[in-house]
Amino acid sequence: MKTIAIVSTAGGTGRTTLTAALAVLLARRGRQVVALDFDPQNMLGAQLGIDGLAATGVSQALLDAQTAWHGYTWRNADGVLFVPYGAVSAAQSAQCDARLGAAPRWLADALAELDLPRDGVVLIDTARYPSQQAEHALRCADLALCVTPPEPAACATLIARLAALRGACAHLRIVVNRLNPARDMQRDVLAMLGAALDDNLPLAQRVHVDAAMPESFARGTWLFDDAPHSQASHDLQGLANWLDAWLTEAAAPLDRPDGAS
Ligand SMILES: Nc1ncnc2c1ncn2[C@@H]1O[C@H](COP(=O)(O)OP(=O)(O)OP(=O)(O)O)[C@@H](O)[C@H]1O
Ligand SMILES: [Mg+2]
Repeated sequence: MKTIAIVSTAGGTGRTTLTAALAVLLARRGRQVVALDFDPQNMLGAQLGIDGLAATGVSQALLDAQTAWHGYTWRNADGVLFVPYGAVSAAQSAQCDARLGAAPRWLADALAELDLPRDGVVLIDTARYPSQQAEHALRCADLALCVTPPEPAACATLIARLAALRGACAHLRIVVNRLNPARDMQRDVLAMLGAALDDNLPLAQRVHVDAAMPESFARGTWLFDDAPHSQASHDLQGLANWLDAWLTEAAAPLDRPDGAS
């Protein structure tokens, strides 16, 4: 089982959208997928098919040590097993954060209870970095997807946090979301971001802007079903293919020096 954290240093970058879309696309490629909402915004469940916001979820287990987090699991139409964060008040949210701050292994221990096969995957939607939720997810992650729009403020916050993010997770990939190549400003911002990266951290993945993306969400459908030939659908499929290949490679047994595997 591999764990992938979806993080960002700005709000509204597309973390939840990408987590839900990738969970479904990986499930359609035959993988067992668990999607965990680790953001008090509590929006992942709505993306994955719950009508409205889930009242309960992983936050209940944070608030009450006697409660098991997997008691709040749902399964969507594509077979994705998911756990919402649950609705929390400001005071409860602070309590959850305090619990996570006091127990740095809380999420690692929770994920260790999962019984997923070697090639299964957990995708974690996180609260904006820095946050207790994002730090826990990064600590557990075999791979972190760092989502940013090609906008000046978002990229400036990402560059400022890049060293900390790389320290928190050895395998980091930047995903540029809502790309609009017609805008010169975005090209300049991407050049600025590219200059802050190096060979070990290329700007590997891009997802184009598509006004139909929020419309599909509002209809309860997927852009890649509604408009499979659109650029953004193509990008999402490409990102899912890349992740699928990464997961296959990561699950492969290491070659032993004697040639056996
Ligand atoms: N490639 C895209 N093209 C057009 N709209 C997009 C794209 N990706 C995401 N969006 C839209 O951007 C908005 C924000 O996306 P989303 O909620 O996934 O971001 P987030 O990073 O999870 O935000 P938050 O910080 O609030 O948790 C949504 O309306 C979503 O439909
Ligand atoms: Mg979100």
